[in-house]
Amino acid sequence: MSASRLFLLLALALTVGCGEASEPVESSNNGADPGPEDGPAVTYHRDIAPLIEANCASCHREGGIAPFALGDYTSVNALKMAIKDSVHTRTMPPWLAGQHCTTYVNDPSLSDAQLDLIDTWIELGAPEGEPEDAPEPDRTQSSGLSRVDSTLMMPEIYKPQFEPDDYRCFVIDWPEDKTKFVTGFRAIPGNDAIVHHVIAFIGTPDNVERYRALDAAEPGPGYTCYGGTGARANWLGSWAPGSNTGDFWPDTGIKIEPGSAIILQVHYNTLNSGALEDQTGIELRLDDSVAKEAFVMPFTNPSWLDPGGMPIAKGDEDAKHAFAFDPTNFMSYISDGAIANGEFIVYGLGIHMHSLGSKGRIGIARADGGDECMLDVPRWDFAWQLAYGFLEPKTVKPGDKLSLECHWDNSAGNQVFAHVDTDGDGESDAYQQLEPGDVEWGEGTQDEMCLGVLYVTAP
Ligand code: HEC
Repeated sequence: MSASRLFLLLALALTVGCGEASEPVESSNNGADPGPEDGPAVTYHRDIAPLIEANCASCHREGGIAPFALGDYTSVNALKMAIKDSVHTRTMPPWLAGQHCTTYVNDPSLSDAQLDLIDTWIELGAPEGEPEDAPEPDRTQSSGLSRVDSTLMMPEIYKPQFEPDDYRCFVIDWPEDKTKFVTGFRAIPGNDAIVHHVIAFIGTPDNVERYRALDAAEPGPGYTCYGGTGARANWLGSWAPGSNTGDFWPDTGIKIEPGSAIILQVHYNTLNSGALEDQTGIELRLDDSVAKEAFVMPFTNPSWLDPGGMPIAKGDEDAKHAFAFDPTNFMSYISDGAIANGEFIVYGLGIHMHSLGSKGRIGIARADGGDECMLDVPRWDFAWQLAYGFLEPKTVKPGDKLSLECHWDNSAGNQVFAHVDTDGDGESDAYQQLEPGDVEWGEGTQDEMCLGVLYVTAP
């Protein structure tokens, strides 16, 4: 997918290059009557470069995860039509949550005014302006992690063995000898040219042996893991390029007992840079106690896991599965009774499907009949596993239901590319798009999932 999109982009850049790119800068009479000496109303240095620096440059820079840098006038000007297109379709910056559902912290989406600014700049002939017009860079943006109390690294350096996508789980010992609460999380990708996402799970003490066995069964550091970790594990935090995680909601935290392990699932994508070495880690803020223990609650329809329970038929362009349930018993079970009567607070969430996923939605079906949107993903993209924190936490009340809906496109055009063994000699010899097949729930590359993940506390 990325390869064909990149190709499209290059084609687009070339067309742009031959076409309207180098129109002379007109003296502008647009906007609040700038005098002739004021120059164009919108310029690269004054308006566009800061916008790109704030919203795009974390990935579009030399050595970044995006396939090209947007660091100077020449590159931005050459790609301006592709930039316009990608921001209007909201494929860029990557942020899967649709508009008009609810509001989130650290939402990098461009405002309508920012879209207008880009349009106007292009209409004016993409004037460069003067470097000295550039505003002071905004240094107030922080990672959001107020304190680093513990840094945990992958035990060894790893070099991806499967290209272009390698999903690897690394088992890291949990060093604390007392019960601790994680109150903030940030991942530090070791090599951000290849690290596409990181999900940290907590392996509880009773499961640690299983992870060690999975690790020992494969040569090299860690083990291959695709949809999950291969054994039960609780979600701790996630990172994808551009996501800005940090402190959790004040005075809430996730408990970790001594003897646990952290399972770090790292998705490597080597398409742009080839297989390079990586040693990724996480930084945590820890506290001995919190006012409210938080729980990370994955939820789904248990019957989807039954054989035949979540059929996604071969060729179906829009297979859909949806359900709503009363979460009272489930929340009580998972929180060891801390959330007892169906009332709890949701601070943020994520949704998880695999590569055939196309759309998804998580909501609260209110007891009085209304339905409150928590996350609406109009175009799922497996590459961007983001967590979405609410600006205003939401309270689920007794009698409310949680609703979850996933759609998949299982047509021929939406299949993944993979290395395949075409002559049956046991070695992969071609990289090609797979044929559609009947799909069900499962952990593997060609299986699917539909999972909501909530960060909650008791009221
Ligand atoms: C979180 C990382 C990230 C951020 C932030 C980001 N991009 Fe991208 N961008 C990518 C990656 C990776 C690709 C390659 C295609 C893909 O994998 O989706 C890409 C591709 C593109 C493309 C090629 C066409 C396309 O849609 O695939 C354009 C144009 C683009 N980005 C513009 C922008 C602009 C403009 C911004 C800021 C408003 C931005 N990007 C922010 C990572 C990012």
